[in-house]
Amino acid sequence: MTESIDEAVAILRRGGLVGVPTETVYGLAADAANDTAVRRIFEAKGRPADHPLIVHIGSAAEMGSWAASIPESAQVLAEACWPGPLTLLVPKAGHVLSVVTGGRDTVGLRVPAHPMALELLRRFGGALAAPSANRFGQVSPTTADHVCGDLGDAVDLVLDGGPCPIGVESTIVDCTVSPPQVLRPGGIATEVIARLLDGVITVPTGPARASGMLASHYAPRCRVEVVDNLEQATTNAATHAYAGLRVDILDPTADLVTAAQQLYNWLRNADTRTLDVLVAVLPPAVGLGHAIRDRLIKAAGLG
Ligand code: TXA
Ligand code: MG
Repeated sequence: MTESIDEAVAILRRGGLVGVPTETVYGLAADAANDTAVRRIFEAKGRPADHPLIVHIGSAAEMGSWAASIPESAQVLAEACWPGPLTLLVPKAGHVLSVVTGGRDTVGLRVPAHPMALELLRRFGGALAAPSANRFGQVSPTTADHVCGDLGDAVDLVLDGGPCPIGVESTIVDCTVSPPQVLRPGGIATEVIARLLDGVITVPTGPARASGMLASHYAPRCRVEVVDNLEQATTNAATHAYAGLRVDILDPTADLVTAAQQLYNWLRNADTRTLDVLVAVLPPAVGLGHAIRDRLIKAAGLG
């Protein structure tokens, strides 16, 4: 582990790309202060330039180096949730590259909780711009193998930190608006964010949409169909099977923590198994259920 982190630091210092485990999903990291290196991320992912990247920092104390000012809500949430699966949008400091923010005047900041990511940040000494390490629009990676399979030679090194313990991306909260707004449900439940902010927060009721997010996202090749309960899923699956389609049911409702961990594996396996249709039951909108619902709805192209 030590050797590969040293190698990762050397690669980042010369403007290369490193696959990094985080507690949510694997990221594709570059030096956030190196314009050319950050541009390579967009090439490697096939990602449009107007989709901003999250800047990963080593501690909440570094927020002031990347933010022009720190809204009270950001301070409260950072203290309570970092390191952890929460991204805070704050006004960007003057030096933050516009390739990172997609030309916006805000920057997304997060301190990841994975020990390997934190150790890399500590030894690198700077900040890492990193989106999820998948090709644009496809299913996010939760193992080092996923990253290698998706990006191949486009990534210079992948640090293997095992399977990601949370399995869905960070919750994104825009702290530049009043009240703060949840733009993407994720690893920290919206109820927790609301409690920390004394309920003064906007939570979109439909599928959330961080700026730059598209309806079809997190999508396997196989068609994903979302339904509200297992009875409906069984009926739909029987109809598809009768029509000669390869179909299976995904029911994440029993255990939301395991479902979040496994969600992207299940979506990827649907393709490995060459399914035509995956009928997915939407879990209740509580806790990690918000994020799982959001990803399934987007995988179904309905976001
Ligand atoms: O858990 C995560 O957040 C993972 C790990 C690697 O940290 N990262 C991740 O990055 O999910 P990405 O790029 O796949 O998704 C980040 C989302 C994008 O939809 C992007 O548009 C939004 O965050 N975003 C980032 N900075 C933003 C900004 N300044 N304004 C609006 N949206 C922003
Ligand atoms: Mg992504």
